[in-house]
Amino acid sequence: MEKSLNNPVFHAIRDICEEMGYPAFVIGGFVRDLYLNRPSKDIDVVVVGSGIDVADRVAKKLGGLRLTVFKNFGTAMLRYRDLEVEFVGARKESYQRNSRKPLVEDGTLEDDQNRRDFTINALALSLNKSNYGELVDPFNGINDMEKGIIRTPLEPKITFSDDPLRMMRAIRFATQLKFRIDEATFEGIKSQKDRIEIVSGERVADELNKIVMADKPSIGFKLLELTGLLEIIFPELQAMKGVDKVEGRAHKDNFYHTLEVLDRIVPNTDNLWLRWSAILHDIAKPRTKRYDKKTGWTFHNHNFIGQKMIPKIFGRMKLPLNEKMKYVQKMVGLHMRPIVLSEDVVTDSAVRRLLFEAGDDIDDLMTLCEADITSKNESKVKRYMRNFKVVRQKLKEIEEKDHVRNFQPPVTGEVIMKTFGLQPCKEIGDIKAIIKEAILDGEIGNNYDEAYALMLKKGEEMGLKRKI
Ligand code: CTP
Repeated sequence: MEKSLNNPVFHAIRDICEEMGYPAFVIGGFVRDLYLNRPSKDIDVVVVGSGIDVADRVAKKLGGLRLTVFKNFGTAMLRYRDLEVEFVGARKESYQRNSRKPLVEDGTLEDDQNRRDFTINALALSLNKSNYGELVDPFNGINDMEKGIIRTPLEPKITFSDDPLRMMRAIRFATQLKFRIDEATFEGIKSQKDRIEIVSGERVADELNKIVMADKPSIGFKLLELTGLLEIIFPELQAMKGVDKVEGRAHKDNFYHTLEVLDRIVPNTDNLWLRWSAILHDIAKPRTKRYDKKTGWTFHNHNFIGQKMIPKIFGRMKLPLNEKMKYVQKMVGLHMRPIVLSEDVVTDSAVRRLLFEAGDDIDDLMTLCEADITSKNESKVKRYMRNFKVVRQKLKEIEEKDHVRNFQPPVTGEVIMKTFGLQPCKEIGDIKAIIKEAILDGEIGNNYDEAYALMLKKGEEMGLKRKI
C-alpha cells in the first residue's frame, strides 16, 4: 500500500503532521477503492488534532494552494492536481432520534472508525513517519473486502438508526460492487426501514440513481424489495410484484419483468433517463389489469396511464420535473408502438407517424422496445427481433425520404393568412392540421409545393377567397 501513497500530497501531510505531532490517516472510500483497484480522486484525511491547521500548512507547503475551509464542520479542502483532499479532525459522534445531524466532539482514530457506515469504508492507512502506509483495520474490513461482504462496524441497528441513509448506501454498494449484505446487517436494515422517512428525498434519489447506473441494477431493486424499503420509497414499483391467477391463467410478474428489461437495457445505454423509462414503462399495469374470459389478462392503455402517473412519482421522489421527465413520459407513452407496428404489416404511414411523435428520441425508443422483449420462447423473441430490424430499416428509409423526424409545417400560418387575407382564426389551424395529416398519411410529399397546392384546394372548399 505504501506505493499508492507516493503522491507528493501524502508526503506533505506526513511531514507536516510529524512536525505538529498530530497522527494522520487516509480513510474511507479512497482506501476501499485502492484495494478494489477502482481509481478514486476523492481523498479523506483524518487528523487526530486540528484538520484545518494541518490543511493550512499542507496547502502552503505545496506552493500556496487555495484552501476552502468549512469552519462549521471543522473541515478544509484543497485540490492538488486532479485530486480533491478533505481534512477533518478525528471525531466521535452521537446521534439524535429525529435528525441525521450528529452531535460531534473530538475523538480518537478508533472513535472515528466506529462512527463509519461499513467495515470496508472504515479502513485507514497511516500517514505517519513511523508506520507510513500501514493499514489500521479494527473491524477486519479487509476480510469483508476479499469475501465481498457489506457489514456495519457496530451493531447494525445503531449504525442505521444513527443515519438511515446508510440503508440505501448498503444496497447501493452491494449493487455497484456485487457484494453480499451480511445477514445481521440485512436484518438491521429490515428493522430500521421506517427511519428512511427522516432522510431527504434528494439523498434517497441520489443513491437510487447510482443503483440505476450500476452494471446490474436489478440487484439493488431486489434488495430494496426484500428489505421492505421499496414499499416506502417507491410503492408503485412494489405494486408490480406478484401474479394473479384466474381460471388457471396467470399473467407474468411485472416487477421481475421490469427488472429484466432494466438489466437488458444497461449495455445499450448510459442515459439515466432511458434507464428510468425502462423502470417505468409498465408502471400502470397493476392499475389497468383486467381479466377477460375470452382474451385473458389485459392492461389496456397502461402506456398512457403510466405516462400520466410519472409527474407524481417524480415529484415525490425528488427527480427532476423538467424536460428529462417529459422524455421519460414520452418513452412510456410510446413504448407499445413499435411492437404493435412490428406485429402488423409495417406501413409507411404508421412509420411516419411514429417518427413524427418520437422525433429525435426514436432510437432510444427502439432500444427500450428491444429490451422489453423478455419472452422465454426463443422463436417468439427471434420473430420480434427480426420484425424490429424491419421497423428500424423502414424508419431509416422513410426519414431519408420524408424528413418528418423533426417535422416543421412546410406551409406556415403566415403564408395561409396572406394567401387568403385572413386575421388569426380557427381556419388557419384547420388547414395546417389537414396538411400535416396528408403528409403523415403519404397523400402528399413533405414539401412546399405540394403543401401549397393542398392549402389552395382546401381553402377553396372552405369558402375562402384567394387574395394573392
Ligand atoms: N460515511 C458514513 N456514512 C454515510 C456517508 C459516509 O459513514 N452516510 C463515511 C464512510 O466511511 C465513507 C466516507 O464517509 O467511506 C466518505 O463518504 P462519501 O464520500 O459520501 O462516500 P464514499 O464511501 O467515498 O463512496 P462514494 O464516493 O461512492 O459515495
